[in-house]
Amino acid sequence: MPTLLVDAGPMVHFETTMSHPSNAPIEESISAGGLAILIEDGLIAKTQSSQEVREEYSYYGNEPILLDDLNIQSLGGKAVIPGLIDSHSHLVWAGDRSQEVRWRQEGKTYTEISQMGGGISHTTSATRATTKDELYRLGYSRMRSALRSGTTHMEVKSGYGLDTETELKLIEVGHMLGEIQHLPTTDCTWLGAHDAPSHLSMDEYVEELLSQQLPAVAEQGLARSADVFCEPGWFSVEHSEVLLKESRASGLSLRMHIDEFSNGGGGDLAAELKVDTADHSYHTPMDTRLDMQQAGVITGFLPGTPYAMGDAWPSMNAMVEHGIDFTLATDFNPNCQTLSLPFMGSLMVQRCGMNPLDALFAVTAQAARSTPHPSGNLHGRLSVGAVANFNVLDSPHWESWALQPSHTPFHSTVLEGKVLVH
Ligand code: NIG
Ligand code: FE
Repeated sequence: MPTLLVDAGPMVHFETTMSHPSNAPIEESISAGGLAILIEDGLIAKTQSSQEVREEYSYYGNEPILLDDLNIQSLGGKAVIPGLIDSHSHLVWAGDRSQEVRWRQEGKTYTEISQMGGGISHTTSATRATTKDELYRLGYSRMRSALRSGTTHMEVKSGYGLDTETELKLIEVGHMLGEIQHLPTTDCTWLGAHDAPSHLSMDEYVEELLSQQLPAVAEQGLARSADVFCEPGWFSVEHSEVLLKESRASGLSLRMHIDEFSNGGGGDLAAELKVDTADHSYHTPMDTRLDMQQAGVITGFLPGTPYAMGDAWPSMNAMVEHGIDFTLATDFNPNCQTLSLPFMGSLMVQRCGMNPLDALFAVTAQAARSTPHPSGNLHGRLSVGAVANFNVLDSPHWESWALQPSHTPFHSTVLEGKVLVH
């Protein structure tokens, strides 16, 4: 049944904003309050004046009603923003690495913690020992938490299996979670190249990835993209290049983790291969960033990771000033346990002085470029024909999306046209 939502407050639609909202007059991205949104078949069918709609249907109350096979509800002047898109998450894994916080405080590095038996290999052992049902249950509750924070679609990586059987299982669970009604949809990525299992050298593991995992992932057909942890000490630029080229030849889109701890040259490879998105990217030099930009590569900033690890991040306003196309995502993983994009917004806006519109663009319209909706329809923008995924704030001010890091700023989330009240 079609739904008509009247009395929207200010609405950040990004309908005409192609690249950088801060370079465009603000009114190009935001409608004044008073619009009604008509939703049909899970898509935005049109926007029109609430007053006209109220007169047409003689609807003068504020209670939801059912009229002429139309569900009408008032948004009471609350601000509306697009559904949030988490373009980088490690959603499915088991285990607990909380003890690592004290090792970090003692000065141990990520590499040292890994060598002590912590890190990715620790989570891999715990994940291998966990059933598919239990991984599904863990993923389910994490997806619910993401939805409460306004996420309507998320990229989900494997990467804690590091053998063919478990990697396929993680991709399958990520895919199944995306099929559940009333939860965000998912976009699955194979990250077999996350670390080498302890019994294999890096060369041996890369050979196994190419000869066994990649063909199995391609045959399974559930992952849209491949990703590589390209970082000194993990996958070298040379290994990453082979893995990415072969993945592309197998029909997968490409993503990368680069320069998380140092400038390892991954940005040059990202630009050369024109990957969809190169993420972390804290230590990437500006000239490489500009090469990536030129090549159409989006930079995926993951401020939750340096936040959790106690590291600094680059000047985000320099990114805006240089016109770098960037997304912001949670990087949810055992080290960084947040699924809240509003928290990422708060880190950028309240810690780094970023314009809340730029931060919002990074988790909506920009994120949709690297992380498309499975229906093939537009999302991350509020425009006619786009998926009806949006968030209704508990405030008449759209800026509030980034100002409530500890609890959801949203009154409700509209997911493919269904209004879910939080
Ligand atoms: O993106 N850096 C590589 N992968 C994850 C973290 C993996 C882990 O520590 O479990 C990330 O931050
Ligand atoms: Fe990551």
